[in-house]
Amino acid sequence: MRFLVLLLLFFSYAAKADEVEEARKRWQTSPHGLMLERILPPTFEASQLPAPGSPGARLTLRYCVQCHNLANPAMHRADKWPGIVERMVLRMEGRGNLGGLMTEMMAGVKAPSEEEARTIVAYLRRHSQQPLDPALYPEVNQPSGEAFRLACGQCHALPDPKRHTAAQWREVVARMQENMEWMNRVVGSKPVRGEPQLRIEEINAFLAKYARK
Ligand code: HEC
Ligand code: HEC
Repeated sequence: MRFLVLLLLFFSYAAKADEVEEARKRWQTSPHGLMLERILPPTFEASQLPAPGSPGARLTLRYCVQCHNLANPAMHRADKWPGIVERMVLRMEGRGNLGGLMTEMMAGVKAPSEEEARTIVAYLRRHSQQPLDPALYPEVNQPSGEAFRLACGQCHALPDPKRHTAAQWREVVARMQENMEWMNRVVGSKPVRGEPQLRIEEINAFLAKYARK
């Protein structure tokens, strides 16, 4: 019996993965594939979604991979998600900006109901980023916090250092470096003019100092 349940779970997961794969193929091979590819990096997999079986996770997988890679709920602080989802739902309904581009893409794109959109927002908020409180870490505004402040606040709120241990931070920072390369922004070896260089050692030192023990 238990085996059967596991087998069913496996097949429903495999089916989901197929759907995500299919959606990815659809937008990647569209005439706007390159632009859409750059919106979010491919570093976050469906299997990494928190509370994977929950309705929020399932709806996020159904609706949010139709035009770009999957977003990590922990990418943004809670108060950012309602506005972002609203912007995305308008697009799915064919009423967003990037109208022309999105209309070409729209064939086959499905929009969530109001109820489903609320579930997605609640899910993303529940698993969102805890932003850094500068009152608790005044060093963030001093010269020794600068590398971290400039590099790590470009795409999302500065994360609370207590989120990870020092060892985990090294891995996250390495992944962020990939995210940045992906998005063609700050790359340590090849600085874009006018953008701060990525000072990895300083960033890791700042995070390690305040990391979860
Ligand atoms: C109809 C196509 C489409 C769908 C479906 C879609 N998005 Fe987007 N998304 C876009 C476009 C275009 C951009 C880039 C412009 C922008 O940021 O608004 C974007 C950008 C983003 C970004 C990066 C910008 C930021 O503010 O961090 C996130 C995060 C995001 N989408 C999350 C989502 C989520 C969550 C869903 C599901 C509720 C979703 N998207 C569904 C088209 C879509
Ligand atoms: C180019 C945009 C970009 C920059 C710059 C950036 N991030 Fe991120 N960050 C992302 C994206 C996209 C995600 C979600 C996907 C993922 O987790 O890889 C994310 C997710 C996160 C998360 C939540 C996931 C987790 O594992 O805890 C943390 C924490 C984080 N970033 C920290 C940082 C730090 C520290 C820096 C500076 C070194 C940084 N970010 C710079 C784009 C960026």
